[in-house]
Amino acid sequence: MKAFKDAGHLFRLASVFLVGGVLFLAFRGVLVPRSFGQYGHYRGNAIKETAALPISYAGHQVCESCHADLLEVKSKGVHKRVACEACHGPLATHADDPASVQPAKLDTAVLCVRCHEANLAKPKNFPQVVSAEHSGGAPCETCHQPHSPAIVAVAGGSQ
Ligand code: HEC
Ligand code: HEC
Ligand code: HEC
Ligand code: HEC
Repeated sequence: MKAFKDAGHLFRLASVFLVGGVLFLAFRGVLVPRSFGQYGHYRGNAIKETAALPISYAGHQVCESCHADLLEVKSKGVHKRVACEACHGPLATHADDPASVQPAKLDTAVLCVRCHEANLAKPKNFPQVVSAEHSGGAPCETCHQPHSPAIVAVAGGSQ
């Protein structure tokens, strides 16, 4: 066969590709986790691992089943759509065993300004204050009930 007289370099080139392909498959087999692609373009076992993590948040319905008195107050106020754990933090352990896990006391000087400190980036109609001027350093709960913070009647006031 005349045409393949000098075919040696073709075979050398082909063997480079072959070795490359085998190495690729070998590395891929070692590096790609077993469960990758089981359900989609991710590690299938990640679902089981995430589901096995301890639960941190109980969800507001769970809190409300025991603290119905607070729900009563909160659901009539401006914080009706703010979930309990948005302020109190994750409390699933307390919900499971309220007798032995006491929630930490909250510091309103830190808590309230996290949402209400005036900031140009916030929507204009979101209630916000420049706390230093607004409260004069007094704790927010001096004048606002945390679970129903709107001031309904101020002597000579507008709200
Ligand atoms: C199974 C019933 C139960 C569930 C569910 C529950 N709690 Fe409680 N909680 C209690 C009891 C009982 C106390 C102690 C009450 C007391 O000492 O007056 C308490 C106390 C608290 C306190 C502290 C009160 C204080 O005097 O300092 C906070 C805050 C609180 N719960 C928030 C929550 C939140 C938020 C949730 C939802 C994640 C929740 N609780 C779910 C029963 C429950
Ligand atoms: C806007 C923030 C905020 C939200 C939302 C909120 N709390 Fe509170 N809560 C506070 C603050 C502040 C205190 C007073 C300081 C403290 O006790 O840690 C407090 C106190 C409490 C107390 C102690 C008793 C009392 O009346 O002072 C309980 C119990 C409680 N909260 C449960 C709840 C539950 C249940 C929900 C959801 C239905 C909830 N809170 C939602 C901020 C909040
Ligand atoms: C997780 C965010 C969050 C935290 C923390 C929070 N708030 Fe609010 N607050 C809200 C939201 C949301 C509203 C309702 C806004 C609306 O109606 O547009 C609101 C409404 C209010 C209003 C009513 C303003 C008006 O329109 O008259 C007051 C007052 C207020 N909060 C005070 C407080 C105080 C005091 C604290 C601390 C105890 C606090 N908030 C903590 C989210 C928060
Ligand atoms: C000395 C009493 C007092 C203290 C302390 C106080 N407030 Fe107020 N706050 C008021 C009064 C009165 C109003 C209603 C009149 C007004 O809009 O200024 C009000 C209104 C608000 C509003 C609604 C503003 C709006 O534009 O609708 C927010 C939000 C608020 N306060 C957050 C806070 C936060 C956060 C703290 C703690 C850093 C705090 N307040 C401390 C008296 C107080």
